[in-house]
Amino acid sequence: MGSRQFSRKAVLRAALAAGVAVPAALLGVPALARTVNAKGGAVVPTPSCHDGDEPTIPQTEGPYFKPNSPLRTSLVDPGTVGTLLSVTGYVFGLACLPLRDVLLDFWQADDNGAYDNYGYTFRGHQFTNAQGMFTLSTIVPGLYPGRTRHIHVKVQAPGQSILTTQLYFPNEPRNNTDSIFDPRLVMTVRDGSGGREATFDFVLDVPQTGTTTPTTPTTTTTTTTTGPNPPGGGSWAAGTSYAAGDRVTYGGVAYVCLQGHVAQTGWEPPAVPALWRVA
Ligand SMILES: [Fe+2]
Repeated sequence: MGSRQFSRKAVLRAALAAGVAVPAALLGVPALARTVNAKGGAVVPTPSCHDGDEPTIPQTEGPYFKPNSPLRTSLVDPGTVGTLLSVTGYVFGLACLPLRDVLLDFWQADDNGAYDNYGYTFRGHQFTNAQGMFTLSTIVPGLYPGRTRHIHVKVQAPGQSILTTQLYFPNEPRNNTDSIFDPRLVMTVRDGSGGREATFDFVLDVPQTGTTTPTTPTTTTTTTTTGPNPPGGGSWAAGTSYAAGDRVTYGGVAYVCLQGHVAQTGWEPPAVPALWRVA
């Protein structure tokens, strides 16, 4: 009987999943804004999320994070023991628009509740695709003393700060006794063919204009650029494929690469602590 509406994010998610065209009204009316502007009227501001889609909350990293995880969407090997689990979802910004090229770095315990602190079993990073979607193939993590069942993740959009958080499972007895557990981070989980299927959408604290031609550019005129890449000189260059351990300089500072990746504008070393640290 209530008048509760579907959240815009939920509708957008369904449309994206179905591969159908998303109505401009859901995408922040960029076309409308431009049309109005062309007629000389005021530009319609892009609406923000008014449907309760607060940014995903952060949680403690815990003691078991390791940098330099492999680039992969599947953490399952032929000999993997456990209940297969897929986790899929989207990463959105504050205007409910999906974010592409977002780095997601997952790590979790094995079926026995143990972390691999020597190698990279059940550790891996990936990037959202052009639709802002990620897919993780793994197993249901085992339990270990003091915690309920969970998956750790770091999420970072290009040039933005890192969100470190954890994902939880519904109907777990220990959810009631784990002081770190938060119901806002519970995935939607169902039984699928050959395993369990979970979904979770992240909302990052990333401003979005909803248009590719911002009316108020945030960039300022470059004044002291000495080359096409790093200001002040340096060896870092967009388009270069870097491996973990590679060293570059950027703006007079030396950095060491933490994750193999292809450099791109927006992923300059000072802006992406998930990929580079000061040497
Ligand atoms: Fe953990």
